[in-house]
Amino acid sequence: MGDKFYVTTPIYYVNGEPHLGHAYTTIAADIVARFNRMKKRRVFFLTGTDEHGLKIQQTAEKLGVHPKELADKNAARFKELWRLLNISYDRFIRTTEPDHIEAVKHILQRCYERGDIYKGYYEGWYCVGCEEFKTEKELEEGHVCPIHKKKCEYVKEETYYFRLSKYAEPLLEFYEKNPDFVKPEYRFNEVKEFVRQGLKDISITRPRNRVWWGIPAPFDESQTVYVWFDALTNYLSGVGYPKPEYRRWWPADLHLVGKDILRFHAVYWPAFLMSAGEELPKQVFAHGWWLVEGHKISKSLGNVIDPFVAVEKIGVDPFRYVLFRDTPFGEDGNLTRESVLNRINGELVNEIGNLYSRVVAMVHKYQGGVLRPTVDFSAQNAEFIRLFRQVRRAYIEEMNRLRFHKALEEVLKLAEFLNRFIDQTKPWELHKEGKTLELNQVLYTAVSGLRILSHFLYPFMPTTMERALKEVLNVEEFTDLFSLEPYQLPLPHRVGQKVNLFRRITEKDLDFIKKVERKEEERMEQKPEGVKLVDFSDFQKLDLRVGEVLEVEEIPKAQKLYKLLVDLGEESPRTIVAGIKPYYKPEELKGKKVVVVANLKPKKLMGVESRGMLLAASDGENFSLLTVDRPVKNGARVS
Ligand code: ME8
Ligand code: MG
Repeated sequence: MGDKFYVTTPIYYVNGEPHLGHAYTTIAADIVARFNRMKKRRVFFLTGTDEHGLKIQQTAEKLGVHPKELADKNAARFKELWRLLNISYDRFIRTTEPDHIEAVKHILQRCYERGDIYKGYYEGWYCVGCEEFKTEKELEEGHVCPIHKKKCEYVKEETYYFRLSKYAEPLLEFYEKNPDFVKPEYRFNEVKEFVRQGLKDISITRPRNRVWWGIPAPFDESQTVYVWFDALTNYLSGVGYPKPEYRRWWPADLHLVGKDILRFHAVYWPAFLMSAGEELPKQVFAHGWWLVEGHKISKSLGNVIDPFVAVEKIGVDPFRYVLFRDTPFGEDGNLTRESVLNRINGELVNEIGNLYSRVVAMVHKYQGGVLRPTVDFSAQNAEFIRLFRQVRRAYIEEMNRLRFHKALEEVLKLAEFLNRFIDQTKPWELHKEGKTLELNQVLYTAVSGLRILSHFLYPFMPTTMERALKEVLNVEEFTDLFSLEPYQLPLPHRVGQKVNLFRRITEKDLDFIKKVERKEEERMEQKPEGVKLVDFSDFQKLDLRVGEVLEVEEIPKAQKLYKLLVDLGEESPRTIVAGIKPYYKPEELKGKKVVVVANLKPKKLMGVESRGMLLAASDGENFSLLTVDRPVKNGARVS
């Protein structure tokens, strides 16, 4: 294990204001950076903004401003948010900075000299939101991008290609040799599968007359560099590339990204680096997606979380804490009012904040604020030391693997122990009985415990834990995690003041977390009240079709839903979300002929758009999908 640690976040697009998702990745990187500093590593933490390309160019055009003006405005907003959230980055890189621009030209020229870049012609659909060409297969009907729900632009132009195809084999070999390259593992499997299917060369430049807001290609000034090539290079330019000093930090130890941009980081980026003859990063970790009260975050639903508002309402450190308390890093998270309220009032205020106040108040009340020299260590102290050792080992291990929720679970064991310890040793009785030596020992143990707790919680809640250490416990400095031990405070020690570290929040404080509608799964279960007679023409309004289930996928967090791909004999199969998970295993469904209501209005369920509904029968006990009893073609009409 080297003693340097280089961690990065994605650089964010400056077409809009920062939101919850941006805050999440950046706080994660900050936690990792602070934890590594506590491990006495030299840390470099890079974040920044992605400022070139068509998306920024078009947004600026719409707003009637120059793209640089738009970039300046939003980059400043990102910086402001990072200041508010106490993000301890070493550099905030902007892709419009001259040193970055030089670095991009330099590395692209290296790929060119390698013979990996050639001139060609491109024709296809481009999603400006993704800044990516899409294949027909990846798009929804009407050439709509499934992520941005917008029609793609058709582009036909001269371009330079990068020979990505050449790197499929070397990449697979690299993955083989570096089993921890992508985390979590299931995402790594998706990446490998994608590469195994073979890679197509990708367009790496755009004609300047269409995308003028970009870096000129070093080998042809009439072309600008593809924004993703430009953006990915920030990880090198951010530490000084191509000046030799970049080797002080490169290769990066950890690229933190959202699952949406994993392919760029785990496939394209390593291929570019191989071509340029640079070392590859050690790890790419792709985290999941935040939902709010079970719904995908979207402007149209009006459930976007403004991190500035969130911080104003619940405070910086509680905000940082709740994002990492429950959701395993890697999986999708669901931000709910209930969980935020419980975690803050139940855990931070009652269990942790209160513990600090209680202990310090007792030192003041019974001992004039001073812990005195003590000799005798009782069995209880031994139990505390044992627990400390065990928690520290587990905490470091979980933090190393970015299992933040597990690390916090470990830390809470310590808080629980200390609360119990005080309830059991009853300092107020020791005081009454005049057992001053014992009382002093109990309080010394409690303060030692709090000092350790402050260390472990520090990466998550730096400001509060700094106050806890300095103002409440009156301890000057944090100690590195390996030297940290209980009973290290030299005695006598005067403690600080009783401070309320956390504020109790109310329902009203949580109004920034919008409940959109009733839970979708509940709504699906609702039965019609009574059954009315209908005309035949009413029945005819339904377009019922026979379909065949091609694929079955689970939906994260959904208890009852599957995402199915169903062939209705149309150009492309349909995505249908069905509440049949309790009744069928995926392998029972694959290849099954089903009956589908084909003209239902598309509907989003758990963030997935469903385009149809399966018919099923149920008597309350048994459940059965409707099927056909003789072979008919997919798409056959049911009437
Ligand atoms: O993709 N939940 O920038 P971007 C969790 N410029 N994380 C989320 C999220 C959500 N709902 N929404 C966004 C770009 N994120 C490129 C990156 S890197 C060389 C170039 C986070 O502004 C997550 O980290 O669209 C995601 O990968 C990133 O924001 C995308 O930010
Ligand atoms: Mg995006």
